[in-house]
Parts: sequence; structure tokens; C-alpha cells
Amino acid sequence: MKVLFQSADADAQASLDLLARQLPQAHFDLWPQAGGEAHDVAVCWKPPPGFFRGRRFRAIFNMGAGVDALLQDPELPAATPIFRLEDAGMAEQMEEYVAWAALGYLRNMDVYVRQQERAEWKQLDPRPRENFSIGIMGLGLLGQRVARYLHAMGFPVRGWNRSERGIDGVTCYAGEAGLSKFLTDTQMLVCMLPLTPETQGVLNAALLAQLPRGAYLVSIGRGLQLVEADLLDMLDSGHLAGALLDVMPQEPLPADHAFWRHPLITVTPHISAQTLMEASMRQIAEKIDAFMRGESVSGLIDRNKGY
Ligand code: GLV
Repeated sequence: MKVLFQSADADAQASLDLLARQLPQAHFDLWPQAGGEAHDVAVCWKPPPGFFRGRRFRAIFNMGAGVDALLQDPELPAATPIFRLEDAGMAEQMEEYVAWAALGYLRNMDVYVRQQERAEWKQLDPRPRENFSIGIMGLGLLGQRVARYLHAMGFPVRGWNRSERGIDGVTCYAGEAGLSKFLTDTQMLVCMLPLTPETQGVLNAALLAQLPRGAYLVSIGRGLQLVEADLLDMLDSGHLAGALLDVMPQEPLPADHAFWRHPLITVTPHISAQTLMEASMRQIAEKIDAFMRGESVSGLIDRNKGY
């Protein structure tokens, strides 16, 4: 079996070595060194334009959860199955990130950080956890895990998904019809949607205006889901109390971007869930093995849905 390996990350060779150790019987080529040879499968992450030109694979394995970058490539072979990473250590990181965001906001931590800059000693009123409702948008594998985790912490949790979902202890809403009801009582909105043509720009003024005054936004799906000017307006008008952004329309976020210096915005560099290479390569090796044996493989992308 021949594998073509490509990664936009700096340590591509190290990742390839990890995968090669899991699949000793396979032959690996690291793109772009590999010539025009035929490969059975591609393992890739954000392949540059031209990667698929003239190539055919039996399957493509995406080294991440989101396949938006892959699906945008006009040369992506139309019928080739694409498999994504499922959890592989990302769910736990997202649980931690959102729990930290929720506790930080609940306990006014960003206000205290700003107060410290002014040497200001001022206690704010405590807010009980049970009155602080968190809304998770996107109840896929990762969204469900985060929803369950926050529920176990004692937060009231609500979730919204394109199609119906049922999660014990979590109030779930679905589709266009359920969106307004979901938003009206959401004090902290966590966007975990995949990026698709429908979700691009979904975090816009019309949606954010339906959150109660003083709500907080956590954006951990993809940057292009957020309409930047609308967020800035909502913060300036006081409708939103703050935002924690982990994903940006352009990554890395340019140094002169307004988000870096906005007093109500916290920026993190796309770390809410990082790809853990050991776990990810183990999972991809299992998926490749199963695929080559003709077994069914989970994590298959539905191209019509875009995730
Ligand atoms: C990270 O953003 C991923 O899609 O895995």
C-alpha cells in the first residue's frame, strides 16, 4: 500500500514517522518530495492548490476534524471518500476550553484582569452557576461532549443543531424553527459548527441581536462564521459583554487587526483543540487499515452537508 502524506504544519516529517510506525507494511511519500507515483490513499491537512492535480486516491484521510479547507479545493476528486479525525483527544481539550471560558466569564475574570491594570480593588457581585445558561451551537461529536461536560458541572445547558439531537439534561433545539428560542435565553453562546456555505457568516447582527443583553460569545468553530463588523458593533453598543475568539477569518490573525486590542475581546491562537499527533496518527492508521480490508470506516464526510 502506498500513502501520500502532506501537512501544512511544520513538523510534517515527525507526523509521518508516527503514522509509519503504526503502518509498518505501508510505503510512505512525503509531499511535495514525492513524484508523480500513484498512491492508494492520501493523508493530508490543508493541502495547497495543485495537491490533487492529476492524482487519484482510493480514499483521503483528513488530519483534523474540519474538512472545510479540503472541500474548497476545486481539484478535489469528486467521488473519493474522505474521512475526518473523530475526537482523537480534541473533545477533552474543548471541554476544558469552554469550561474555562464559562468559569472565567461567570467569575468576571476579564474584568479583574482589567482592574489590575489600573490597580483597582473592586469586588463584583457573585453570579450563581445555576442561573448562567450556556448554549452550544453545533451538536456533533465535539459539541455533544462539551454540552455533557458543562451539564455535569452544574450549568444549565441548551444546544442547537441543524437536525434533531437528544442529550440527557440538555435542552435541545433544531433547525431554523428552533433557533430564536435557543438564542433568547443563552447567556454564553458557544459556536462549534462546521464551516459550510450555510454557516459562513452565521454569527451576524441578526443572530447576535437575539441573545439577551450582556451575553458573551465564544467562537471555536471557524473564523469565517463570524461577521467581524457585526461583532464590533454589538460590543460597542453593549449588547454583547465580551467575546472569546479562538478561530479567525484569517489565521494567523494579522498584527494590526482590531481584535487584538479590543478591551472586550480575548484572542487565543486556534488552540481550543489541537491535533494530538500520537492519538491522531493511531486513529488514522486504524482507519486506513480498516478501509484497506474493506471494512466500514467511521468519520466519512457527507459532501452534500459539507462535514
Ligand atoms: C481544527 O480546527 C480541526 O478541524 O481539527
